[in-house]
Amino acid sequence: MSMSFNLNVIEEFRANGGRVGGPFEGGDLLLLTTTGARSGRPHTVPLGFVRSDGLLLVVASAAGAPEHPQWYRNLLAHPVVRVELGTETFDAIAVPAEGARRKELFDAVVRTAPKYGDYQAHTGRQFPVVVLERPEAPPGQPREVRSLADKLLEAHTWLRAQLRHVRAEAQAHVPGRPAGLGLQLRQHCLAFCEGLSHHHTGEDSAIFPALARSHPELAGVLAQLGEQHRVIGQIKEELVTLLAGIELSDPERLRVELEWMSAELESHLDHEEAELLPALAGIPFPPARPGPIGR
Ligand SMILES: [Fe+2]
Ligand SMILES: [Fe+2]
Repeated sequence: MSMSFNLNVIEEFRANGGRVGGPFEGGDLLLLTTTGARSGRPHTVPLGFVRSDGLLLVVASAAGAPEHPQWYRNLLAHPVVRVELGTETFDAIAVPAEGARRKELFDAVVRTAPKYGDYQAHTGRQFPVVVLERPEAPPGQPREVRSLADKLLEAHTWLRAQLRHVRAEAQAHVPGRPAGLGLQLRQHCLAFCEGLSHHHTGEDSAIFPALARSHPELAGVLAQLGEQHRVIGQIKEELVTLLAGIELSDPERLRVELEWMSAELESHLDHEEAELLPALAGIPFPPARPGPIGR
């Protein structure tokens, strides 16, 4: 599929609430935006999708080409992706299925969209089947985000839930088991690490400096919290190193690292909430836009 063809489809999709004509007419199409494995830049492609048993599935068929498409290589490096579906846009975690599960899902795809079976029959490369998991709002999340305190709690709730989930998967993981949970664990764990980095970078670069100006009495607390970010950042780096291989060879080391992460992170989040929520509750979020000058 040529670049300009893709660009036209993307433009048409966005202009028409997710509907496109031409070769895609009547097909189920979504836009997937991944983050470049090397460039770090957003990369959007139109893709056919299949729904099966409540799962949203895409197949890295590249129309039968011998190599995996770029978007698949990108999602292995950065599992958090953006999905545009109809008029909806949401973030998802991309999890390729493995082993018997992959086969079961691929068979389900082919029953709905036989062209994938034709492509697969003409290439030696096994097409990855990717589940686009839309994270559910965990319980205890504020219903509506109105202040920076709500925003912080929302992020912390996601981090706690994601880490709990990853630890449970790591406990269940046995290398070489036919069910093949390795890739799933890796994607979930990487997504957690990316979410954590993003959150702490936002605190270090924006929230903490703003609080230091408005609440000088918090200087000592902010320094402690910043130091905890550095410690947690080091554990995160070790997790990312362990996850660098697609196959997890040493689940025990990962489990140990995750337990350490959990202890440090839980105490950090509790500490941060106790110290900062009162000050953050007074700051509206999203921030009010300044009106045009002269009004
Ligand atoms: Fe935080
Ligand atoms: Fe923090």
